[in-house]
Amino acid sequence: MKAICFGAGGGGRRLYKEVSLEYCIIAYTDNDSSKWGGNIEGVPILEPEEALGLNYDVIVITSAPGLENIKSQCIKRGIYEDKIITSFITFPLDARKMFLEKLSLMQKNVPMSANVAEAGVFEGDFAKLINEYYPDRILHLFDTFSGFDDRDIFKEKEFSNAIAGEYGNTSVECVMNKMTYPNNVVIHQGYFPETAKYLEGNFCFVNLDMDLYEPTYQGLKMFQSKMTGGGVILVHDYFAENFKGPKTAVDQFLKENAGQFRAYPIGDGLSVMIVGF
Ligand SMILES: C[S@@+](CC[C@H](N)C(=O)[O-])C[C@H]1O[C@@H](n2cnc3c(N)ncnc32)[C@H](O)[C@@H]1O
Repeated sequence: MKAICFGAGGGGRRLYKEVSLEYCIIAYTDNDSSKWGGNIEGVPILEPEEALGLNYDVIVITSAPGLENIKSQCIKRGIYEDKIITSFITFPLDARKMFLEKLSLMQKNVPMSANVAEAGVFEGDFAKLINEYYPDRILHLFDTFSGFDDRDIFKEKEFSNAIAGEYGNTSVECVMNKMTYPNNVVIHQGYFPETAKYLEGNFCFVNLDMDLYEPTYQGLKMFQSKMTGGGVILVHDYFAENFKGPKTAVDQFLKENAGQFRAYPIGDGLSVMIVGF
């Protein structure tokens, strides 16, 4: 069966082999125009208009960020839902969702003054879950809202093929529209960790999902002293083969604080949780 993969970023690259076992990938597509004209393993990355005009059997969504958006974009174009395959992405998402739900229950007794945070928000799909599962806590959200920053990409060459501006196709409004309890949300727009310079209070849960070495490492160092006892920092992409920055950052952080913190996988195949605060 012929497939178009929708999502030519980290997920698209990571899932190439897995999707190829089931489908013949004839093209990738992505809403990020900077990716058009490139290729993944020799498969061309086309703009959505062109890719969706090809003769294909299924659309396989290969991006977790923006998943719901991509799905409704396809449906709006008249593609039947049974032709849109999301399972390659939803398995890890469901595992992360379950982890967060159960962790939030376990943290019910942590004083309500403890906040929650996410650095690396993009369209806010995971932030929405944090807001939902921690309805009484302030949620601090950090993102440039203009994608990866040059200052990080400069140091990124050995870790990934990330490019400046990638994930820039989002907005504060798009994220806020997804929040169930918007009054609890504080947006810090701009370059992290600069935007956290005056951050106060302590935190019982933090999600670091910035894909890159530098902000992940800085995030770990910055939040380390702000975590409550029993607090958890979740780091996405630790096991991602095409984004080696988060793993490098976590390993360095653990080594520098020898024996103090521990990292464990959470069952989504990508993330680790750091405990010991
Ligand atoms: C993979 S996306 C996050 C996905 C999101 N957590 C979700 O649930 O869909 C990575 C995000 O990190 C942000 N980011 C990366 N480096 C950053 C930095 N130094 N400061 C602020 N935001 C950054 C990017 O702008 C991008 O939106």
